Amino acid sequence: MKGIFRGTTLLVLMWAAGGGAWAAEEISYIRDVAPLFRRHCNGCHHPGKEKGGVDLTTVAAMLRDGRHGPAVVPGDPVGGSLLGEIQGPEPAMPKEGDPLSAAQVDLVMRWIRAGAVDDTPPRVRPVEPPVYRSAPSLTAMAVSSDGRWMAVPGRREVLVFEVAGMTRVRRLLGTPVRVEWLAFSPDSTRLAVMGGDPGVTGEVQVWDPVSGELAREWVVGADTVLGGDWSPDGTRLVCGGADRVVRVLGVGDGLETMRVMPHSDWVFGAVFVDGGRRVVSGSRDRTLRLLESDTGKLVDVVNRDSEPVVRLLRRPGHEEVAFAGSEFRPRLYRAKDRGEGVDPGKDPNFVREFDGFGDGMTAMAFSADGGKLATAGVPAGEVRVYDVGNARRVQTFRGHAGPVYALGFTVDGERVLTAGAEGLIRVFAMKDGQMQTNFCPVEVTGDLARP
Ligand code: HEC
Repeated sequence: MKGIFRGTTLLVLMWAAGGGAWAAEEISYIRDVAPLFRRHCNGCHHPGKEKGGVDLTTVAAMLRDGRHGPAVVPGDPVGGSLLGEIQGPEPAMPKEGDPLSAAQVDLVMRWIRAGAVDDTPPRVRPVEPPVYRSAPSLTAMAVSSDGRWMAVPGRREVLVFEVAGMTRVRRLLGTPVRVEWLAFSPDSTRLAVMGGDPGVTGEVQVWDPVSGELAREWVVGADTVLGGDWSPDGTRLVCGGADRVVRVLGVGDGLETMRVMPHSDWVFGAVFVDGGRRVVSGSRDRTLRLLESDTGKLVDVVNRDSEPVVRLLRRPGHEEVAFAGSEFRPRLYRAKDRGEGVDPGKDPNFVREFDGFGDGMTAMAFSADGGKLATAGVPAGEVRVYDVGNARRVQTFRGHAGPVYALGFTVDGERVLTAGAEGLIRVFAMKDGQMQTNFCPVEVTGDLARP
């Protein structure tokens, strides 16, 4: 990359000296301009930190209005705010660090004059499934509400199974590097996949699990998306991530309809409540926040500030959410405001808490009717199931050889599926706690293949 960059700079200098002899040399956004912004600007101008209202991580974002209009107007170098900020003997930008060289400024100017063309290559989707030399760590799981489908992530793919016979029916190729969250739409016709490439991008995808087609895809922000939810009518998705942003995305038109930064630290999850009118987001900043889902307006903080929130779930069929934090015990809260003039020491929305795990919680899931809560943690490597109504433990599943990262109930509530670092999906019966079957969701070849 560096070599190409220097080469272009040289060409530009020759062009400048030679009075336009090199004018035909096209400037590429992705090859020449993007690396420059990445190195000198994007630390302060990315979707989680838009200084001056300016995001310089994509061409589309540069064309949007910042505090003083768009940063870039294609074909018109002085029409946007960007060029004026980097030109002159004492340029305002970059705010800290050395100014861009005259050649670099000239390169940006020429790119804008030539129409600010976005030549970012379309992301290539693999056509062949990956080959596995070892079992993949299973970081998420979803079970569809009609009871038919179950999905888990592999490496850059998501595997869809028919629950009835635990047969694999689809491989969805080209999912994010890290999948943090998976969920079927309320009508079970689509699968949302959230995750990203840590420190690079956040990604949200919507797949048709039957045809295997990618219906919609968003690249959001400059860091991983950590969790989200479908709106009850299946038209919107909400998500939160390491860029601290909570977003609502329209599944039909692909538009981002809401975007706010209500938290001061990573957002580990966001769920719809109140029929989709509101959102509860949970963050490492120790708060659950209640927001209007259309405007993002903060209604109230839901909980008393207690511990970082690292996992958040909506309780099906109830206006309640469960979260787990650094104290490793799941806590259940009513998803509502705290009311006028509440003493900050009081916690009026707290419902009850469940047993914790000594060294950390790794997964939790509600049954489809919200009556049971399954939890997993370390060091036990065991999975526990509670009656949500009275927090009493009703079942324990043992035998995992590594941490369990994902859990799911079958829709009838009779079986619990577990998955995690071992790369195995295990199926347990609620009635006797026995494991009925276990399997690796992919074929593993080579030395590390399991017997
Ligand atoms: C260390 C942080 C930082 C870096 C690095 C940085 N900026 Fe900024 N930028 C800001 C801040 C803060 C503002 C808001 C205006 C102000 O305070 O001056 C801003 C504002 C802007 C604006 C909007 C100006 C306006 O008046 O609307 C543009 C355009 C801009 N920056 C471009 C750039 C470019 C291009 C680079 C890289 C060459 C860059 N910035 C690097 C912090 C930064």
